[in-house]
Amino acid sequence: MPSEPSAYVSDTTPGRGALRPARSWLHSDAPSRSLNGLWRFRLSPTVPTTEDFASEGFDDEGWDGITVPSHWVLQGDGAYGRPIYTNVQYPFPIDPPHVPDENPTGDYRGHFDLPADWSEAERIVLRFDGVESLFKLWVNGDEIGSASGSRLAHEFDVTSSVRPGDNVVAVRVHQWSAVSYLEDQDQWWLPGIFRDVTVIARPVGGIEDVWLRTGFDNGRGHVEAEVIADAAAFPVTLRLPELGVEQVWDTAADVTAFEIDGVEPWSAEQPRLYDVTVSSAAETISLRAGFRTVEIREDQFLVNGRRVVFHGMNRHETHPERGRVFDEEHAREDLARMKRFNVNAIRTSHYPPHPRLLDLADELGFWVVLECDLETHGFDKLDWVGNPSDDPLWRDAYLDRIERTVERDKNHPSVVIWSLGNEAGTGSNLAAMSAWVHARDAERPVHYEGDHTGEYTDIYARMYASVLETEQIGTDGSRAALLNCTPAQGARQRTKPFLLCEYAHAMGNGPGALDQYEALVHKHPRLHGGFVWEWRDHGILTTTPDGRPYYAYGGDFGEVVHDGNFVMDGMVLSNDVATPGLHEYKAVVQPVRFAFDGDDVVVTNLRHSADTSDLRFRWRVEHDGTLVDSGDMKVSVVAVGESERVPLPPIPVAHDGETWLTVDAVLAADTAWAREGHVVATAQLDRSASRPVPAARPHTDWRQSDGTLTLGIAEFIDGSLVRLAGRAVAGPRLELFRAPTDNDEGTSGDVEDSDASIPGVSHAQLWRRDGLDRLTTRRLSVERAPEALRTISKVSAAHSALSVMVETVWSLEDGELELRVEIQPSAGWQTVWPRIGIRLDFPDGAAPVDGAKWFGLGPFESYPDSLHAARNGRFSSTVHDLSVEYARPQETGHRSQLRELALTSAGSKVLRIVTIPDTRGRRPGFTLSRHTPQQIAQAGHPFELPESTTSHLIVDAAQHGLGSRACGPDVWPEFALRPESRTIRLRITTD
Ligand code: GAL
Repeated sequence: MPSEPSAYVSDTTPGRGALRPARSWLHSDAPSRSLNGLWRFRLSPTVPTTEDFASEGFDDEGWDGITVPSHWVLQGDGAYGRPIYTNVQYPFPIDPPHVPDENPTGDYRGHFDLPADWSEAERIVLRFDGVESLFKLWVNGDEIGSASGSRLAHEFDVTSSVRPGDNVVAVRVHQWSAVSYLEDQDQWWLPGIFRDVTVIARPVGGIEDVWLRTGFDNGRGHVEAEVIADAAAFPVTLRLPELGVEQVWDTAADVTAFEIDGVEPWSAEQPRLYDVTVSSAAETISLRAGFRTVEIREDQFLVNGRRVVFHGMNRHETHPERGRVFDEEHAREDLARMKRFNVNAIRTSHYPPHPRLLDLADELGFWVVLECDLETHGFDKLDWVGNPSDDPLWRDAYLDRIERTVERDKNHPSVVIWSLGNEAGTGSNLAAMSAWVHARDAERPVHYEGDHTGEYTDIYARMYASVLETEQIGTDGSRAALLNCTPAQGARQRTKPFLLCEYAHAMGNGPGALDQYEALVHKHPRLHGGFVWEWRDHGILTTTPDGRPYYAYGGDFGEVVHDGNFVMDGMVLSNDVATPGLHEYKAVVQPVRFAFDGDDVVVTNLRHSADTSDLRFRWRVEHDGTLVDSGDMKVSVVAVGESERVPLPPIPVAHDGETWLTVDAVLAADTAWAREGHVVATAQLDRSASRPVPAARPHTDWRQSDGTLTLGIAEFIDGSLVRLAGRAVAGPRLELFRAPTDNDEGTSGDVEDSDASIPGVSHAQLWRRDGLDRLTTRRLSVERAPEALRTISKVSAAHSALSVMVETVWSLEDGELELRVEIQPSAGWQTVWPRIGIRLDFPDGAAPVDGAKWFGLGPFESYPDSLHAARNGRFSSTVHDLSVEYARPQETGHRSQLRELALTSAGSKVLRIVTIPDTRGRRPGFTLSRHTPQQIAQAGHPFELPESTTSHLIVDAAQHGLGSRACGPDVWPEFALRPESRTIRLRITTD
């Protein structure tokens, strides 16, 4: 039996003593003091059997100091335990509502000074904005209450326990409690007081709560005000000075709705806010009101009468050093980054963020799906038997959670949808939450993805639906069954707006196919876009035993159960670097589109409500990547949903090179999130004169040879290349392997898109089975002809009869060295291949290869199903910067459609490689890396990559697509690389 002080740990109710109803997080001039700062702290491995630490006179001299807010597992260098990462798994036995005796418990003691004049206050309130997971509170030795709901705010009336001068606050925080079963989100478990603690003097005649329900209709703003205050607070005055509004309400009964003329609406694109105050004689509340009306009309979700397309991100609160502790500057910069990447929406997965985040969202402009703090995913393992979502025992906790969520954030114009939570199965408690929201806020729709059949929510939502399935949802003519739905339930779901609350799992290198989802949204109005999973990697900055810093993921802290690097699935790396996937996203969702049509470009404005008057348009022409002309393009203001046809500038066409036109839409002035000139949208047009592909010169008269010779800048011994331009080199060798991406390692069952996929078996497994990572070579012949050398080799892996024939021809053509490699698979290959390439190794010598300059697609890596951010041009990079430092090393750095590559050493060209397209006009891509795919595949973290003394160049005739199979669909068939014959042709010079 649990001893008395810990019995409440298994209580399924939301605690006792916290003030109800919950209220908005308001900016008030009522006196308050932050209790953030240094507290005394003691960690016990189990719940201590006494509560004596809470008494006033307790001697805490021997205790450590800890900063509030923080997570104790991220403090004290491991002295207070370590973070645990799990996705679905509960890191404790599934024995609801109980948790193990091994329950790390943090005792905190803090002090605050109560000013003498606070004795005039009506009430003294202590507010906790976030404590994980359950806490109990004492003030000056008096037990005040307890509360759970880690990412929710709780206020306690402590009036009768405080006194002027010094006061002692004692808080006991349990890492595990009954509510841990409700907080099984895919993230680190991070206990502690991790958000602000504030003591507030509530004035006599103060305003308890305000809700300004604002609407917008045809230039008129509506305000329906709700003021919660004692009779003594009246008269209460609402002022909106900018529009000359002043409403005086003498009694609570006078608080009525009113309208305002000349209002500009709020939208994510034009986040127009008005300063409003609501005051009594004793207190002034300051709000920033935005006027907008949210509604669902038939199967469309509208704001201010217009359909919204969500180009959204799932946003967790995560920081490599602070965990979920809010850092406003970092969060603001993160949101500004989202805006720069054309993101217009945030789902606050899977709990309410720090309340300030919503002020920022109002101000910078985002459509927000505000999600409640709820997930019981671990019950999936039990086929949802015992799931709290359908058990009356937990009903109060569910209702308490949604009430605290909605009440806290109800004033924000950015919040347009309420979400009940995530992956909590289904059941009557969820239905009760939804009913509560509908009763309290008739305007905003309710979302919850787990309501597959649409019994109690207003929006049809799915996660990771494939492109095909998404299309079927959007299509009325399709009778295709919807997930878990009978035909009638499916028909019901098709009457609602559809949202991909999660899609495009951004783990590691990927995702592919963003453009396919985007195309559907513009075809089927029921589809409202979605939210990429997810915005950031959750890496925790730590160090190796020998002191090297790295970003840790699951398992790095010795967790008993964990889910590895599944927590590293963001569009932004832990160190704030935008991934190529995010650049791709920006290009795919750009709100202004260009279509080239003859001598015109058609500019289309796909925004929700903003015209293009904030943009200017510019163009440039390049010949083989070199600027030849540029200018501004006159585009008259394009209204929402409209297009404008604009003549192209005169384009001088190169006769002996490529000619490309680039058009950009850029910001005409600075905004809160980007500088003037920031590129919002871009497109390119190929105006190259067609040029014949030079045929390979046939060589005859081949004779067997020892293969030791010099051909121009190439030296061979026994048929093998050993030096190029005096520089040691090895290769070319066939390379079919790439270090598997997280998507290549994915086993997701959704394989309808690719006939090469086997449910439950990853491509990477098949590649390893077939030995693509361990190919061996048997040379069949070495022959010479005048100015030419030819080798034929058979490449295959141990215990495999599958093979690839590789014919390599070196020759001098017009005095230049040409390499032609013919790659021909044997019959019988069943899988997709990661790549078809040849590898050349350049060991470090006097002037090591350490950089590249190229003409082709860049500047970022690109793959067949992720090519929109790649543009044609000239680029340069160090070898190091060609690779993306994914949290788990994997394939990276491929630049597609290479025309010309210069390998450089300290900025100087050492070799020049020009590609010749194959007979179908296809050009190879390249990667240049300090590690081979095999070495990269061995490393679990970047620091595990060996010291390198070689640069490896891989020229790929083709690469497999990326897909998002780590959690979602496989590579679309068009971008899946099936074994096939390929030719690679290169000219290699030193000029
Ligand atoms: C979803 C879940 C997210 C995350 C994602 C995979 O099922 O809602 O929280 O776990 O999968 O990364």
